[in-house]
Amino acid sequence: MASPTCTQFRVSVIGAGNVGSTLAQRVAEKNLADVVLLDVIQGRPQGLALDLMEARGVERHDRQIIGTNDYQDTAGSDVIVITAGIPRKPGMSRDDLLRTNAKIVRETVKSAIVYSPNAVLIVVTNPLDVMTHIAWEASGLPPKQVMGMAGVLDSARFQTFIAMELDVSIADISATVLGGHGDLMVPLPKYSTVNGIPIDQLLPESTIAQLIDRTRNGGAEIVELMQTGSAFYAPASSACVMVEAILYNKSRLLPIAAYLQGEYGLNDVFIGVPCRLGCQGIQTILELDLTEAEQAALHRSAASVRENVERANQLLAATV
Ligand code: NAI
Ligand code: 2OP
Repeated sequence: MASPTCTQFRVSVIGAGNVGSTLAQRVAEKNLADVVLLDVIQGRPQGLALDLMEARGVERHDRQIIGTNDYQDTAGSDVIVITAGIPRKPGMSRDDLLRTNAKIVRETVKSAIVYSPNAVLIVVTNPLDVMTHIAWEASGLPPKQVMGMAGVLDSARFQTFIAMELDVSIADISATVLGGHGDLMVPLPKYSTVNGIPIDQLLPESTIAQLIDRTRNGGAEIVELMQTGSAFYAPASSACVMVEAILYNKSRLLPIAAYLQGEYGLNDVFIGVPCRLGCQGIQTILELDLTEAEQAALHRSAASVRENVERANQLLAATV
């Protein structure tokens, strides 16, 4: 008899690099869904998938993991996660990166959506908020079915630094970071608590400012330490929590790059805000009470995203 936890959900992860392959592992080993791992490199996704299949003998789950270079194998996916892209290399301008990743995201989304027209799409590729907009335009999907992963990661980093500073369990900490995934993100101390106690009652302002700064630079700190490549364990965990909320209709309240249509006084832009996430994607966007300074910071972040979406579309138009 089929177990209720063995629903045959299918998740396709486009881009079998560090984030993509770790996400595939998390999804399969948490027994959430079968996984299709697709990459442009011949052999890589097939090799990773076989390795993950062989791990089943130890991990004891029956999820299927398929590695492929062919989009037909992704058919019927419930969730598609886009992690395909290139990192910025020495000598490469911001525009080069924007053009290259926008082209990759546009093409991968168009190819994947043909075979899974009802999927929910999660974008991970950077620059995150801009790539989510490009993905949405390429997908033809309703906005609630397209979202970017960044806020869960940025909030997890903020939580980590708060836990380290106070020497308390991370299990007791809840933190909220809004805005774009970049220098202009907006960590919110008043919505960050230790078992319900706001951190501004536990830490001096100057310490909170340092923790916020470290959160804003969380990605860069890891790049500097690793020298090649960027963070992938926490990003994969963050994407996995979103995948789980969608597949199992969990109504989780998570910070997600969502398409705003008037919320927070913003229009036609993807930016990190608290969303209720379930099987059809974004169920509702929660409008928090922000101070004038926080609202202004969110608008600055959104303006920067909007500018880069326009630039990416200009670059794409010039490429065709
Ligand atoms: P990676 O370089 O390890 O993997 C990228 C993969 O994409 C490679 O295997 C590459 O072959 C593949 N790829 C490139 N073009 C493709 C195409 N046209 N079709 C299919 N696959 C293609 O990079 P990593 O570390 O996995 O990061 C992936 C992306 O996620 C990067 O853009 C990175 O900046 C971003 N990222 C975003 C985070 C966030 O919070 N939103 C956190 C961490 C990473
Ligand atoms: C990060 O924040 C690189 O966006 C990636 O780690």
